[in-house]
Amino acid sequence: MGILFGGKSAEHEVSLQSAKNVIDAIDKEKYEVTLIGIDKTGQWHLNDSSQFLLNSHDPKSIALSKTGKDVVLVPGKENEKLLHITDSSAGGNIDVIFPILHGPFGEDGTVQGLLKLANVPFVGAGVLGSAVGMDKDVTKRLLRDAGIPIADFRVVYKWEQDQLDFNEIAQVLGLPFFVKPANAGSSVGVSKVKSEEQFLQAVELAFRFDTKVLIEEFIAGREVECAVLGNETPIASRLGAIIAQQEFYSYEAKYIDENGAILEIPAKIPPEVEKEVQAIAIKAFKVLCCEGMARVDFFLTQANKAVINEINTIPGFTKISMYPKLWEISGISYPALIDRLIQLALA
Ligand code: DAL
Ligand code: MG
Repeated sequence: MGILFGGKSAEHEVSLQSAKNVIDAIDKEKYEVTLIGIDKTGQWHLNDSSQFLLNSHDPKSIALSKTGKDVVLVPGKENEKLLHITDSSAGGNIDVIFPILHGPFGEDGTVQGLLKLANVPFVGAGVLGSAVGMDKDVTKRLLRDAGIPIADFRVVYKWEQDQLDFNEIAQVLGLPFFVKPANAGSSVGVSKVKSEEQFLQAVELAFRFDTKVLIEEFIAGREVECAVLGNETPIASRLGAIIAQQEFYSYEAKYIDENGAILEIPAKIPPEVEKEVQAIAIKAFKVLCCEGMARVDFFLTQANKAVINEINTIPGFTKISMYPKLWEISGISYPALIDRLIQLALA
């Protein structure tokens, strides 16, 4: 089996941390692991030459370096590399791939399409589920259509940036509100806005990562996460809660500041509320065409109303990441989880 990690997105460093953990947890007696690392320029590296990537992670270097403009990608190169790697004469027999790539160019259907074309089974959602889950605007519209509560929002494209009116937005969405790139993860490019000055900076920042930006209502309450596993008959894990020690659960609170957030696992919430959130998580998984795995992130209001924040079709597997932790407390160990995910890919 092959583990595909790194990638061109702003979550490159997070992917390296996730991959390390998955590689550690995988049952090496059962699976012969081929490492396939993608560096920040989009170049692919096989086995030994990909090892240097795994050891080069520095979460602090992340969001600052991503502009998307410095990436040079030779058309056709990835396709050629993959076909070469999956050819038994090159990287050994790769019968399944576990993509541990977060963000655009990995979690968004691009790699999934490539794998489909190359006829290689892979862990996680297919092209449609990946693409839908990556784009927060499309995600939210589909959830809303299915009657699943979401935070109110509006979408702004880069070419409309000059027409933005802070007061008008604040009147509709209230204050504070969030500004986020539509296609990103790990809170990269996300800001919580309380004033017009912050708003202008937030919009500038978000547009560094995407040409489409969401302006989103702030939902007061707790952040809770639910892990989902399966294909046609997915199951939901116990819930975990995040108590951010900063203004919000930012990239820094996640991966840089060790005291940035407190994880409450399992979340201390009434059992009937937990059941309801699990049911919504499974419904969202199906509505958004997911397969294999996803982590569904919620806000839970004081009245215990569950509002979906987003879905992650390749959730983090880092040491602070909820997906494996939630399965552990739900009775599936880390190695067993990886095994199940691979078996679901092959099913
Ligand atoms: N996007 C990050 C990796 C997560 O959701 O865990
Ligand atoms: Mg995400």
